[in-house]
This record gives sequence, structure tokens and C-alpha cells, in this order.
Amino acid sequence: MRKILNVRPAGSRNYQVRIGPDILHELIRVLPLECATVCIISDDNVAPLYAEKVKAVVKERAEVEIITFPAGEANKNRMTKEQIEDKLLAANLRRDCTVVALGGGVALDMAGFVASTFLRGVPWITLPTSLLAAVDASIGGKTGLNTTQGKNLIGAFHQPYAVLINLDFLTSLPAEEIDNGLAEMVKHAVIADADHLNELVEAAGEIRSLNLKTLERPVRRSVEIKAKIVSMDPGERNLRQVLNCGHTIGHAIELVSQYRIKHGLAVAAGLSVEAGIANQLGLLSTRELERLREVLRNLSLPLAPPDILDPAILLEATRTDKKNRLRKNLYSLPVGLGKMISAGPDGYVHQVDDEVVLAALEETQESLA
Ligand code: GLY
Repeated sequence: MRKILNVRPAGSRNYQVRIGPDILHELIRVLPLECATVCIISDDNVAPLYAEKVKAVVKERAEVEIITFPAGEANKNRMTKEQIEDKLLAANLRRDCTVVALGGGVALDMAGFVASTFLRGVPWITLPTSLLAAVDASIGGKTGLNTTQGKNLIGAFHQPYAVLINLDFLTSLPAEEIDNGLAEMVKHAVIADADHLNELVEAAGEIRSLNLKTLERPVRRSVEIKAKIVSMDPGERNLRQVLNCGHTIGHAIELVSQYRIKHGLAVAAGLSVEAGIANQLGLLSTRELERLREVLRNLSLPLAPPDILDPAILLEATRTDKKNRLRKNLYSLPVGLGKMISAGPDGYVHQVDDEVVLAALEETQESLA
């Protein structure tokens, strides 16, 4: 029988993560008992591919509404949220509705945020259609939207009611979307499991060709790592900060490139730079730094921000990071492959001086870009 993972977030209801090929029909099993209407929220790239398939599964059990919004990170904004909410209100939905978030990270963040505030909160189920969303946004209840000041600055923690990772949905992914997912999987390995790193290198070809049989194991391992961390610290008060590894620099790369550089590629370069910072601080050995960079190279992921992005501008962009407090610039740093810095005065993050960040950016750009 297929193993079902459980997320047990302190203070919230436990929920299941079901992973496998051809499991869409299981959606009916994870709907809340009281669900009278399923509201599928998706973007206009994904909805034409899969929304009717999802509807066909649940329509015997509940009324179904399909709401779409324009695809793309640029549309993950307040205006889109308002438009979706107006449609929910026009459909006269009540608290016995369940939002089914269908799509990649943008659709999940948006649909989850809508679910978190509609009628003061209704249940939502995540149905990811990208590798990145499968291993990241679908689990842990981070929802939100972007403003001109930065990514995900408005949002809420709203844990999903269930997660269904139907691997068949991933088969329509373009290559750059696979990079996005792979980079987050490397991050999970750096945080908690060096063997997962080796597994990713060995399975890279099969993952890239979206071989569903080979995909299941590494996806499950990444989900296990994230589920364990989220269960221990759902509200990111301490341990969950480690999931930001690679993201301080990664988000800065995205912001400075005006989101032309995709999240996964930015995070891969961010992992390389932040591991360089950890190495300069004497936290991570040179052997392990080189191993991580070799893995990124083997997975055809970038090791540095593109030369065109000025290190001083990138450094400036890191100051909008949500982790920062009291004007300190805080980083989640590895102390080994599979091991993150343990809790200190600032939690699971470490204050890093500007000179160290600049030196690490320059070192990677000069030698690795
Ligand atoms: N994507 C990082 C987190 O969910 O905490």
C-alpha cells in the first residue's frame, strides 16, 4: 500500500500528504466531510490542462466552481486576490466550501491566501502541478502575495487540509520548471540529508525526463524533510528558518533581475553563495563547499549569480528579507552537508557582516559564473 505521510503542525490539525502517480481520484477521500462546494482556484495556464479532470473527480460529491486568474508571478498581487474574492462572493459560497489550489507555487500561494481570509478562513487542499510546488509550496501553509517592495510580504500561515501530489500532473513541465524543483530538493538535502544529495545526482537524468517511477522516491524524501520541519515549527518562529537556506541571496537575485531569473536558478546560486559565506565564517569545510558546488554543477544548476548583477546591488536587495530583525542581516547557514547551524541568539539564523557577503558574492561571480 502507498505510504501516506503526515504533517503534524503544533497547534493545527494534522494532515495527510499523498504522493504517487495516478492518484487524482484520491481527492474525494481527503475532502472535508462537510464540504458542499469545491472551489478550484488555478491560473490560466494550468486550468485548461487539469481543472476539468479535477472537477470530474469531485462532482459526484460536491458542487464545483472553477476560478482562474492570469498566470505569472507578476499577477500574484492584491488586485488578483480581490478579483478572486469577488468571484467567490458572487458564487454565494459559505464556510462549507473547500478551496482546491491547482497549479504551481503562484497558484498555491494565491489560492491559499484567499482561503485563509475568505469568511475568516475555509479549508484548502493543495494539488501541485510543478515539481517546485510539490516539494515546497504544497506543504507547510505559507500563503501570500507580492507587492512592489518584495516577494510574499503580505500573507498568512494557513495549513492545508490535505496535500495530493499526483505525479502525472508534473509531466507537462518545461525543463526550467524542473530546475526550480531540483534546486529546492538540493536545499532539503543540504539542510537534513547528505544521502539525498547523492540520490539527486544519481537520479538527475530520470528526474529531468520526468520518469514517474524514479521521481516518487526523491520527491517523497524532500517532502518528508519539509514535513518534519514544518511539524516542529509551523509558524517559523525558530527551526523553520532553516528552510530559508539559499533564499536570502536567492530572493535578492530574483528581485534585482526583476524576476527574469527563475526562483530555482536563483536559489541554486544562493545556495552556492551562502555555502561560501558559511565557509568564510569557518562553519562549513572547503571539502563540503566543493562537494555542494560539484552537485549543483552535475545537476546543471548555476553556481553563482550572473556577472551582470552587481554584488553591491545584490547586497542592498538582501535588506528587504523577511528574516531580518533590528537591522541585522540574518542567514540560514549550513555547518555541514545535511546539517544546519543550531539555535543561537537570533534563532536558527546567523548575523553576517556586509563585507563577508560581498566577498562571497565576488568570489562566486569571479570564479564560477
Ligand atoms: N519555503 C520555505 C517554507 O515553507 O518555510
